[in-house]
Amino acid sequence: MAEKKLEKFAAPRGTHDILPEDWPYWRYVRDTAERICELFGYRRIDTPVFESAGVYLRTAGAGTDIVEKEVYLFEDRGEARLALRPEGTAGVMRAYLEHGMSSLPQPVRLYYIAPNFRYDRPQAGRYRQHTQLGVENIGDGDPLADAEVVDLLRTFYRELGLGDFVLKLNTIGDSECRPKFIEALRDYYRPRLDEVCADDRVRFEKNPMRLLDCKEERCQPVIAAAPRLSDYLCDACREHFSMLREYLDALGIAYELDERLVRGLDYYTRTVFEFHPFQEGAQSALGSGGRYDGLMELLGGPATPGVGFGTGFERLILQLHREGVEISPADAPALFVAHLMPEAAKAALRLADAVRAAGHEAIVSSAGRSLKAQMRHADALGARFVAIIGAEELASGDVTLRDLRDHSERRVPLADVPEALGPAVPSTQ
Ligand code: HAM
Repeated sequence: MAEKKLEKFAAPRGTHDILPEDWPYWRYVRDTAERICELFGYRRIDTPVFESAGVYLRTAGAGTDIVEKEVYLFEDRGEARLALRPEGTAGVMRAYLEHGMSSLPQPVRLYYIAPNFRYDRPQAGRYRQHTQLGVENIGDGDPLADAEVVDLLRTFYRELGLGDFVLKLNTIGDSECRPKFIEALRDYYRPRLDEVCADDRVRFEKNPMRLLDCKEERCQPVIAAAPRLSDYLCDACREHFSMLREYLDALGIAYELDERLVRGLDYYTRTVFEFHPFQEGAQSALGSGGRYDGLMELLGGPATPGVGFGTGFERLILQLHREGVEISPADAPALFVAHLMPEAAKAALRLADAVRAAGHEAIVSSAGRSLKAQMRHADALGARFVAIIGAEELASGDVTLRDLRDHSERRVPLADVPEALGPAVPSTQ
């Protein structure tokens, strides 16, 4: 009978493995993110990878890409309707509400580093699973909080060693003034619907704000002459935006005003912003966010202001590579223990444990290999020292310690090996 050929698996489209050689970059971005967030007084929160579907469906907005096309929905075996996290903010707001964080001193400053899932069209810098640093400042409606999160993100990029970037800034009004603008926008587009692209005709019905960031050539003249939100802002939104600009000026943070910046999530109110790499044609934002004063009410909670951002690790790491920012590679083992017979293998295991207890990375050779093969392996791993344990060493209680940098060799008593390796390097993992 012909054997059935087994399917060969690959990582699902739009996902990727983070290999050991990628980890120095991931660790660098993660450690820098944690350090900068803590410096700004933000504390870590982790929420589940999946939530009741409503947490995300109700908050992202009915006509948005996230809700219409991207969210991974599933039913579990108990028939609960769940969604994989497509973005971090709504889950964090659910946690804030559930744990009564409104009774803490406000604002509550939270950050998270977590994977998100979107059924998106994969391309460079756009994946179906991506990891975000997210920051949420919850409970403060003042533009000072907006300035703080922008400052945090700018500081994070600087600390990573990224070069110039452009901060795009806009205000999209609130529930007071935005409906009037949307009415005006619809009145303007209605007689022009056959001049614009098919997507715009859908946006006109479902998500009119997104008409403003259509990228189609034929839609550009229509956008150029469209009503401007800045003409419709209520006094409170106008005041908020002008204070934010003053704070950013005081911090020396340059920005470009971009009236077409509207963002892909419906929960935003007032401030929206994006950081873009400073290069021709850079389409994708490195990081983006804004204020979401109405989000908590969508979750059934009391009105609670909030502002924050998300920034994707994959895009940051691509950008670090593009800009040639060097990260030191993962440390090589300090010691490789070679052994030449079964009794020596036991001594090798014990020696490696003693060396690790002193804070050095140690690897014990696999059993049954020739000394030559073991030396080759130690070389390939980039080990600094090799300890060789054979019959002679077992009898004397010494090991032969070879320095692979200068190929010198000396005999060292077993108990003195950890010290002979020099000062231990603190673990970075
Ligand atoms: P977002 O703009 O959808 O906002 O995503 C934030 C960041 O995540 C983007 O600027 C980008 O760096 C990264 N990102 C998004 N989608 C992908 C993808 N498919 N592949 C790779 N990277 C991606 C949010 O998610 C909001 N929760 C941000 C926020 C927090 N607003 C207020 N607080």
